[in-house]
Amino acid sequence: KVRKDVSIFDTLDELSTAAAEAVLRIAKYTIEEQGVFRVALAGGSTSRRLYQVLSSTPYRSRTNWAAWSVYWGDERLVPLSHPDSNYGMTRKFLLAHVPIDENNIHPVPVSLGDGWLIADEYEHILRETTGTPTDGVPALDLVLLGLGRDGHTASLFPGNPAVDETECLVVETAPGSRPPLVERITTTLPLLNAARHIVFLVTGEDKADAFRSAYHGVPLGEVTQVPAYLVRPADGSVHWFITRDTASKCSAW
Ligand code: 6PG
Repeated sequence: KVRKDVSIFDTLDELSTAAAEAVLRIAKYTIEEQGVFRVALAGGSTSRRLYQVLSSTPYRSRTNWAAWSVYWGDERLVPLSHPDSNYGMTRKFLLAHVPIDENNIHPVPVSLGDGWLIADEYEHILRETTGTPTDGVPALDLVLLGLGRDGHTASLFPGNPAVDETECLVVETAPGSRPPLVERITTTLPLLNAARHIVFLVTGEDKADAFRSAYHGVPLGEVTQVPAYLVRPADGSVHWFITRDTASKCSAW
């Protein structure tokens, strides 16, 4: 049974502060337990506020950043310095302001140029830096994710073959519906579903239908396989941090 929790807030600020508390709590006991905290960051705009909170006083002094190891759930195929880069966004709002060891920051190696090469190399990086054998799947301690109006998460867009991937942990994928319309590199369900904790951050009334489908598994228009619903780690938990408007289409939990 997948444990699924929902926390509902009035504003993005409240949501982000509560999410920051959750991230710090998970980081704390994970570091106490194993000395390292492996987290995959989300792109998009919703998570920005969380990154700002985490890098601000007093939050930034509440964790041992040296124990953090940072990955990305998906990346756009643009240079890391490009305004559309997920890495760039997280560097600007979080990584530039906290004492993380640069050796523990593992961006998607977009400079390799070719999408499949990049995906392959990122899979290799994920395995190597987590000490996972080639036939194993790394268990990330926390994966932060957003949700699109079409039910996508990371860069797993409805109807795209990346959603059905069962072997590769990282693949190249077409952009789907969400701007910027550039090729993406995305982690896949086998990796996401091996995580210990998944935290979704969602705000806005325009995502209320997508949230209902992603939470309850009901179709979203013509889409019967809503990618975000398929994120259900076998031995992990899923926690949704959403605002009231996003929750407005759900009556039962
Ligand atoms: C990306 C993402 C994507 C995003 C959602 C929600 O690279 O675009 O990682 O999955 O998180 O589209 O984005 P917003 O938070 O901007 O609505």
